[in-house]
Amino acid sequence: MKALFRKKSLQALMAQAEEKEHSLKRTLGAMNLTLLGVGGIIGAGIFVLTGQAAAQYAGPAIVLSFIISAAGCAFAGLCYAEFASMIPIAGSAYTYSYATIGELLAWIIGWDLILEYLFGAATVSVGWSGYVTSFLRDFGVNIPYALSSAPFSFDHVAGWASTGAIINLPAVLIIAAVTGLLVIGISESATVNDIAVAVKVVVVILFIAFGAAYVNSANWHPFIPANTGTFGQFGWSGIARGAGVIFFAYIGFDAVSTAAQEARNPQRDMPIGILSSLAICTVLYILVALVLTGIVKYDQLLVPDPIAVGVNAAGQGLFWLRKFIKIGAIAGLSSVMLVLLLGQPRIFYSMSLDGLLPPFFSKVHPRFRTPHITTMVTGAVAALLGGLFPIGALGEMVSIGTLLAFAIVCVSIIVLRRTHPELARPFKTPLVPLVPALGAAICIAQMGFLPWATWLRLIIWMAVGMAIYFFYGRHHSKLAEARVDSWNK
Ligand code: ALA
Repeated sequence: MKALFRKKSLQALMAQAEEKEHSLKRTLGAMNLTLLGVGGIIGAGIFVLTGQAAAQYAGPAIVLSFIISAAGCAFAGLCYAEFASMIPIAGSAYTYSYATIGELLAWIIGWDLILEYLFGAATVSVGWSGYVTSFLRDFGVNIPYALSSAPFSFDHVAGWASTGAIINLPAVLIIAAVTGLLVIGISESATVNDIAVAVKVVVVILFIAFGAAYVNSANWHPFIPANTGTFGQFGWSGIARGAGVIFFAYIGFDAVSTAAQEARNPQRDMPIGILSSLAICTVLYILVALVLTGIVKYDQLLVPDPIAVGVNAAGQGLFWLRKFIKIGAIAGLSSVMLVLLLGQPRIFYSMSLDGLLPPFFSKVHPRFRTPHITTMVTGAVAALLGGLFPIGALGEMVSIGTLLAFAIVCVSIIVLRRTHPELARPFKTPLVPLVPALGAAICIAQMGFLPWATWLRLIIWMAVGMAIYFFYGRHHSKLAEARVDSWNK
């Protein structure tokens, strides 16, 4: 029993951080970190899921869903900031919980983070495919439906159905291309990220600024469509369910915390990076949601490329903007996939070094110096998911999994303040335990409003994870070998 709560000592983590200190340059300032956050955040959530969540769950009141979700993220972001300043090394939530609560929870978070990163990349690839198909169609190139859609569809009333399509080929190809780049060793410079962010943000601002003129306020009525009689379909329960679904759009601010070792002044700049990127994206998201549901009636937004549909609905006047929107979305979604598919192998790599996954997950290519095997395994599974499944079902899995991870991070802050009050905390989450408790409560509440089918998949996913831990990780853990249990002494 005690083994489940064995922890990695803070001393060991700090020694690890010191080692890395010599190889990683502390060059990122508050501005770079903010741009990193925005770069990881803006993607399929706003370009794809906003339309679907408005059409299926909340109507124009999806705006309120964005506000609720942002509040949960802000509280969780403050907790991430405390951890990132206290344990400024890679591994994010997995490492934080290994140091604070123990191995079983670290494994649960690590396993859960697969939903955020790997499933996240698959979800974004489906959004990317929607925009690329639509972009090519503008030039008269038609990718047949059978090769550009998932063979399965899912909705919460009818359940799973066959669509007649064979595979979403563009989604598979983009994952393969990004994976290939990552294996060869793409180095993500701050400059490249800055350019990608600039393209995305400019496109989003263009949509808001020019789209606003085409808003027909009749489309906002009723702002909160009446509940259909089914829980979660419009009305207040629909707003809450919408918040759980579009939570996906905010995922990525936690990527800032993985850059803790490259920050010049993590104590001051991590909170700035995390919270400013969240604030910027929240404002942009609310405005996009308002403009989109104002241009098009929400019930027409159940499409893979809702922002493009919004621009089309505005007619000739916005014709020029169509290509920009699509280029911005395609570029933006590509960079999100890159960040997610870069992050996942790093987490597997850390878990493998700790002994919780087999050693081949931490194998590094002798020439490229990348974790090539885990990168390819990640890419292959993501390509399969992106090629076969619809975006809604994938995105909801990502949301529920990440919400669980955020809730655990929030609770960990409260636990650690009690168990280890003496630790140096360069950045302190304000109003503990209120802020982390609210963060955890909002995250758990949003999970509660997600559909039962999504919960069932989460339960199955976690059960598979637990089985792997009990049959493999528990016995192969480096801590088990070393019998190190420093914090329990
Ligand atoms: N927030 C990221 C996106 O929406 C994951 O694509």
